[in-house]
Amino acid sequence: MTSPGAFADLAAQRACWHPLVFANEVTDRPVHADLLGEPLVVWRGQGGTPRVMSDLCVHRGTALSLGWIQGDELTCAYHGWRYAADGRCVAIPQKEDPSAVPAKARVRAFRAQERYGLIWAALEEPRWPLPEVPELENGAWAVVTAGPYRWRCDAARQVENFTDFGHFPWVHPGLLGDPDRPVVPPYQVHTDGHVLRYQIVRPEAPNTEDFPVFGNKQAGPPERRSRYELHLPYTIVLRLGWGGERGMVYFFASQPVAADRCAGYVLVGRNYNTGQPDRVIQEFEDTIFGQDQVVVESQRPERVPFDLAAELHLRFDAVAVAYRKAMRGLGLAASTPIGASDE
Ligand code: FES
Ligand SMILES: [Fe+2]
Repeated sequence: MTSPGAFADLAAQRACWHPLVFANEVTDRPVHADLLGEPLVVWRGQGGTPRVMSDLCVHRGTALSLGWIQGDELTCAYHGWRYAADGRCVAIPQKEDPSAVPAKARVRAFRAQERYGLIWAALEEPRWPLPEVPELENGAWAVVTAGPYRWRCDAARQVENFTDFGHFPWVHPGLLGDPDRPVVPPYQVHTDGHVLRYQIVRPEAPNTEDFPVFGNKQAGPPERRSRYELHLPYTIVLRLGWGGERGMVYFFASQPVAADRCAGYVLVGRNYNTGQPDRVIQEFEDTIFGQDQVVVESQRPERVPFDLAAELHLRFDAVAVAYRKAMRGLGLAASTPIGASDE
């Protein structure tokens, strides 16, 4: 797509951490993942250490994710060349001396880490670390994962949808919002470097029989306090409270698969209902994200236009406005000249 204007800058986002896959899906076989339009292979080396490399064998461009792991090496499925964790080819079995490997025989290896139940990669030196969410790591809260939600839009559209207050009663009536109370209460967004913070006390729908996932009591019109941190470019930490001890934290990270593709990973931590089966929250999230997907995939352009003159912003859209400003301010979204192809 070549619409003029400012869009997410995939090259600039190489210097950010992005999620690639749920960690428990990477066991003893390599796994393919796409990030920022680049094919990657994710695998575990010695001791389970996560590794991320280019998923293109330097010999003939075969996907290394078709291969297999031996110790701390990844073997290509086509001719058996073996790669070390730093991406160097260390053995070419077709040669008399397999260890006599030319210096050019290597693939790119990238920074990787495992945290919050996900494998993350940064394709260049990351500009800032992952958010700190102690609730997900202290062992006292129950944590459920949901997704990934693979949508045909850019990661910014998926993130903006997650932060959009105005749509709850319309897209999720009875689940996240009350159609009789559609007014968005006033709130303020504070931008602090790459983190936007804002909070809102909002009417919400009562817990339903189908999805008793929230901590609100049933008496009176329920209200929920939501404290958001939006860590640019695509990670959201949302803490929910209902005025008592009960707390819930939503961790949402969208993987920029390509310019117009994304995958959203959800972790939900709670200090109540800790014995509830995971599928209650998972089916709830599948329902919510399914309702959102239809609407968001219909948006044009498929990518958030970061120019503030594009689209029509009202006061209750303050998060989107602050997000678009901050993304441009930090160089994570940039203008492309009219008619130029950015793909
Ligand atoms: S294509 Fe990978 S070893 Fe030949
Ligand atoms: Fe939604």
